[in-house]
Amino acid sequence: MVSNESDTFDIGGDLTVHRLGFGAMRITGEGIIGPPESESNAHDVLRRAVELGVDFVDTADSYGPGVSERLIGEALDATRDDLVVATKAGLLRNREGDWLPHGDPDYLKNQALTSIDRLGVDSIDLYQYHRPDPDTDYEASIQAFAELKDDGLVDHVGVSNVSVEQLELARDHVEVATVQNEYSLGNREHADVLDACEEAGIGFIPYAPVGWGSGFEGDVREAAEAVAERHDATVYQVALAWILETSDVTLPIPGTSSLDHLAENVAASELDLTDEDLATLA
Ligand SMILES: NC(=O)c1ccc[n+]([C@@H]2O[C@H](COP(=O)([O-])OP(=O)(O)OC[C@H]3O[C@@H](n4cnc5c(N)ncnc54)[C@H](OP(=O)(O)O)[C@@H]3O)[C@@H](O)[C@H]2O)c1
Repeated sequence: MVSNESDTFDIGGDLTVHRLGFGAMRITGEGIIGPPESESNAHDVLRRAVELGVDFVDTADSYGPGVSERLIGEALDATRDDLVVATKAGLLRNREGDWLPHGDPDYLKNQALTSIDRLGVDSIDLYQYHRPDPDTDYEASIQAFAELKDDGLVDHVGVSNVSVEQLELARDHVEVATVQNEYSLGNREHADVLDACEEAGIGFIPYAPVGWGSGFEGDVREAAEAVAERHDATVYQVALAWILETSDVTLPIPGTSSLDHLAENVAASELDLTDEDLATLA
């Protein structure tokens, strides 16, 4: 079970979630295209996550595309007050599986309607702009999210894959509840964005928190293994515990299609790292 009942974060000041969430990108087909081999397994993973106490699920229109959101709509009641489902728009997929930024404001508003339908909700709890589109004015794309919020189709707005400057620009147009950037033991490139989030009380959703499933390499792996041994834990659990320990605003969303990995990841919230551990992982 998600262990520490008080270890929560208020997204946008009013959506209280346990800080360890679930990333629903891995419940689709290979390459995050099409349906998974077993849809019933995907349903089971989603339901089990909620049974284990996870109340924050992250997805996107581009996962599948549409498949991850549809599976969530089928397996869970996304209208529940005690469950926050965050989704995103702003990336198109082609038949080669590429992720193509598309920030056209009308397109983004169209995608919000398709996500609302697949998730089976009246409004999206947290709607995130997936990635700035170099061919569209960033502020025009963000303005579309602001208008969706004004229209009541979206409760909170988040941004993803942004610099500190882009975060500040977005905040000129709309209250930004969360930022989702890659961040993990093995990739601390966006530490400046995390600092900015901390300062502003914005949730920071570190994606790829277990290193895209690699469990990391080289010195990082060695350090994680040393700490894991001290606690009879796995390097994946150490990586998640480190993110939770690193700041009060981090909301890691490990992704998995495996019931065993899910249980292991959720149990990471029970792992208390010592000062010695943190020094090893620094
Ligand atoms: N905003 C963005 O641009 C962006 C980009 C990427 C991802 N995301 C979001 O972030 C979430 C997390 O990222 P991610 O899924 O790419 O990376 P991740 O969570 O670091 O790694 C997921 C991979 O690790 C494996 N894994 C997970 N737990 C494990 C464990 N305990 N032991 C061994 N292997 C384990 C999974 O395979 P199994 O299925 O075999 O467990 C999966 O292949 C995604 O689901 C998505 O919601 C956002």
